[in-house]
Amino acid sequence: MAPVTEKTGAGEKITIPRHVAIIMDGNGRWAKRRGLPRTAGHAVGSENFRKIATYCKNIGMDYLTVYAFSTENWKRPADEVSAIMKLLKKYLDEAVATMERDKIRMKVFGNVKTLPEELRKLVAKTDEISARYEGFQANICLNYGGRDEIITAAKRYAADLLEGRAARELTEEVFSSYLYSAGIPDPELIIRTGGEQRISNFLLWQCAYSELYYTDTFWPDFGPAELDKAIAAYNARDRRFGGVK
Ligand code: FPP
Repeated sequence: MAPVTEKTGAGEKITIPRHVAIIMDGNGRWAKRRGLPRTAGHAVGSENFRKIATYCKNIGMDYLTVYAFSTENWKRPADEVSAIMKLLKKYLDEAVATMERDKIRMKVFGNVKTLPEELRKLVAKTDEISARYEGFQANICLNYGGRDEIITAAKRYAADLLEGRAARELTEEVFSSYLYSAGIPDPELIIRTGGEQRISNFLLWQCAYSELYYTDTFWPDFGPAELDKAIAAYNARDRRFGGVK
């Protein structure tokens, strides 16, 4: 597959990154500004994810990865955690019913083992459906932490090495194959909505050469036009990967 897909917009050629990752921040503040509970922001945020994922698929992107729930998010009030889990269950339920029709692959990145059983079953189901298709893939980071991902990969590699199943020479390529993102190219572009400018334990290994794009727009307001702006900004970047042009 070509590394990028090209799209002609307003007379100019725009390169669509193969893989975009998003930290969907600002749901709580979006709701607060409207006098609504934070959970209302997550509900609109989850609808927005659906809209943006469809848009990404339509413009020819290959992978969209979003940060839905981190290993640190368990510290939030119990009612907020439970509302987010309910939204994820609703989303995965609907995905199981529609992803075959829409030919969308979906993967969960994160520690699935400690999730509620109904979510674990849904993840297994989406994995099974995804294995039958090629094409656009949405990755949902759920109970995910970048450091946790690296430690988990290191443990799995060590276990395989002891059993004689792993290559003795640990290269970047070999290590990458133990991450949740095995087989998926690193994101060329990482977007964070909501005004903060930090990576917050997101895709720590994979972000080595990603272009970072920050916007003050809260996630529920981040529509296709905002994504176009981020992609245009990405197109204006000079990517040298440590070299010289
Ligand atoms: C960050 O906003 C958002 C989250 C921690 C949760 C994101 C979850 C969803 C959008 C719902 C489910 C997702 C899917 C993929 C169906 P924040 O609460 O930190 O906002 P704040 O910074 O304004 O407080």
